[in-house]
Amino acid sequence: MNFYSAPKYLTIGIMQAILEKSPCSQAEADIANSRIYTGNCLDILPELPEKSVKLIFADPPYNLQLKQELYRPNQTLVDGVDDIWDQFSSFENYDEFTRQWLSACRRVLADDGTIWVIGSYHNIFRVGKIMMDLGYWILNDVQWHKTNPMPNFRGVRFTNATETLIWAKKSEKQKKYTFNHQVMKQLNDGKQMTSVWHIPLCTGTERIKDEHGKKAHSTQKPEALLQRVVLSSSNEGDLVLDPFSGSGTTCAVAKKLNRRSIGIEQEPRYVEIAENRLESINSDLFQDIRLTEPPPKRLQRVSMQQLVEAKYIQEKQCLYSKDKTHSATVLSDGRIQNSMGIGSIHKIGALLKNTEGCNGWMYWYYEEEGTLKLLDEKRILYRENNGIQ
Ligand SMILES: C[S@@+](CC[C@H](N)C(=O)[O-])C[C@H]1O[C@@H](n2cnc3c(N)ncnc32)[C@H](O)[C@@H]1O
Repeated sequence: MNFYSAPKYLTIGIMQAILEKSPCSQAEADIANSRIYTGNCLDILPELPEKSVKLIFADPPYNLQLKQELYRPNQTLVDGVDDIWDQFSSFENYDEFTRQWLSACRRVLADDGTIWVIGSYHNIFRVGKIMMDLGYWILNDVQWHKTNPMPNFRGVRFTNATETLIWAKKSEKQKKYTFNHQVMKQLNDGKQMTSVWHIPLCTGTERIKDEHGKKAHSTQKPEALLQRVVLSSSNEGDLVLDPFSGSGTTCAVAKKLNRRSIGIEQEPRYVEIAENRLESINSDLFQDIRLTEPPPKRLQRVSMQQLVEAKYIQEKQCLYSKDKTHSATVLSDGRIQNSMGIGSIHKIGALLKNTEGCNGWMYWYYEEEGTLKLLDEKRILYRENNGIQ
């Protein structure tokens, strides 16, 4: 059943406010920062403008294909995922659905955006192949190691303690995307974060319960997992999309981390849970978890003239292109001269390469004891010897 109806949910003002950060009123601004749409994502995604979203996190149906009820050794029934929304009549059917939503997501993803898709061994290999077929370019396959997994009660296989998160950009040629490397390092005690994340399942008070004390959503993800995803690959103010938002974990984390978000969920009961969850979040209380990437450290400038004055490079010394087809002579003021004229190492390099710009430090070489060495090595040495950072 399709609960979505465009005129009812997507008022132009709110939609614009979410997409353009231009709220029409304070009330609409609050809604605009995080909004869940009720409906089938295959219907709603095409309504969103092209290239409007910076980060997508998708936790799609896993197609678990549970064939029978599972009991613990004490004969209590395991509360598994047997929801209708997780069932597909065949692998072909599942693949076709996957292809459709992944294509629709690719259309709305900004050219500098990235997508995360989480899955288990039941579906992630199919999802990964389809992503590659559609042109997505995989950046990492993060292993979520569940530190408190459900045992394999029948003892016929290993305890399944991992899920995979595929992190991908839109295409191989996409140059820019957000990766907050320093923030991740900070989260990992100053060490580079690896692609294995040790995070417990969502349990205890974080797990939303229904009026009977049962799990309100069978696959609610832990906020710690989403915090890593959102902090690593988006910045404050960015728009995050979750096409299968369930209990609203992505949108809740986005709100705490000061990102805008759009969730899409076809089951109205889950939308209600997610909306209540969002409403209960006072984002002022979460400023301390909003880690931000420091601007890249800029090294203090060292010029060719300084190197010549300090005799790291000699006046009248010859510089060469890597293949020695071009050469130039160093002048006393640090400029160089050849048949192209007189200019900086960068300008003469660019003229020789016929390009807009050229990093002369990486273009020119000097000769020492019969071998060619990159000019930049002299600059590095000068910095080291003079304590220049
Ligand atoms: C794996 S759960 C996501 C759980 C979510 N990450 C959370 O933390 O609560 C998948 C969700 O997608 C919803 N769903 C399934 N097919 C959908 C579709 N075509 N469009 C929108 N939602 C869909 C299901 O109702 C379910 O809530």
